Amino acid sequence: MPPSNEAMKGRICLVTGATSGIGKATATALAAQGATVVLGCRNREKGEAVKQEISRATGNSSLDLMVADLASIASTKKGAADFLARYPKLHVLVNQAGLYLNERTPTPDGLETMFAVNHLAYFLLTNLLLDALKAGAPARIVNGSGGAEAMGKIHFEDLQLEKKWKPMAALAQSKLGNFLFTYELARRLEGTGVTVNVMHPGGVKTELGKGQGGFFGFLMRMMGPFMLTPEQGADTLVWLASSPEAEGITGRYFIKRKEAKSSARSQDKELAARLWKVSAELCGLKG
Ligand SMILES: NC(=O)c1ccc[n+]([C@@H]2O[C@H](COP(=O)([O-])OP(=O)(O)OC[C@H]3O[C@@H](n4cnc5c(N)ncnc54)[C@H](OP(=O)(O)O)[C@@H]3O)[C@@H](O)[C@H]2O)c1
Repeated sequence: MPPSNEAMKGRICLVTGATSGIGKATATALAAQGATVVLGCRNREKGEAVKQEISRATGNSSLDLMVADLASIASTKKGAADFLARYPKLHVLVNQAGLYLNERTPTPDGLETMFAVNHLAYFLLTNLLLDALKAGAPARIVNGSGGAEAMGKIHFEDLQLEKKWKPMAALAQSKLGNFLFTYELARRLEGTGVTVNVMHPGGVKTELGKGQGGFFGFLMRMMGPFMLTPEQGADTLVWLASSPEAEGITGRYFIKRKEAKSSARSQDKELAARLWKVSAELCGLKG
């Protein structure tokens, strides 16, 4: 766990996916540094239990919850509104909630779930909190993603993969979405004092894919003993969110605290602008 960090005291950090795995380890590390940490969770009871656990582990009681089911556009909007009613300023937003599914499951909005949670919720929540981030500048956004972006394609002709759904195609599309979103947002945020970066945690033993059969579930079970701990997986997220070395860096991709190169497709500005427009339309936001 990183030591207390004077620079993080009094900083407001919101971490999604804070009830498990990499997000929980990130929230714990930021709390250990002395920040005020708001734990994004979809289940209040589970969120409360994790809040108590993090408070006991770090001695920091400056913890709060933002309850939202990020698979639902309405619930995400409500969660953001509740957050903004309490915190007009935000200094760090870590988008880390995500999932892998072996079967196509539509969300309450009729969207493909990995697209909705892994990409669209990042887009929507971040946009809803942008004014608070600008008010808190210098502020940082860190998007947790994964190496599957390199295999990703944005299937604009069938974005919800209704005609042809394959789990890896859905996962990869959502991860490529994280990169296109990060780079486009960095361009839009130039000069605001708000930075945004994307990272890949490596292979981490978490609850990801738990209960899902198929090849992915098998792979996660087999690889388990060789995988990183959630704390190791969270290290680059925490570093990007809080270290002096990462101050001012924006629009970049990191693995193990080192800058990495993402796919050529992820750097396509036209593709990024098109995905931004479609995402905004789906969420009912102005492009
Ligand atoms: N683990 C890896 O090796 C690895 C590698 C690369 C990328 N990633 C990415 O990391 C993300 C998952 O993180 P993890 O590995 O730490 O898995 P995890 O232990 O399963 O944690 C996932 C977190 O996301 C939350 N979440 C899922 N759906 C949600 C929803 N609809 N609304 C709100 N919160 C939701 C979960 O909440 P609950 O606690 O309520 O379930 C949990 O807090 C995925 O996007 C995955 O692709 C993981």
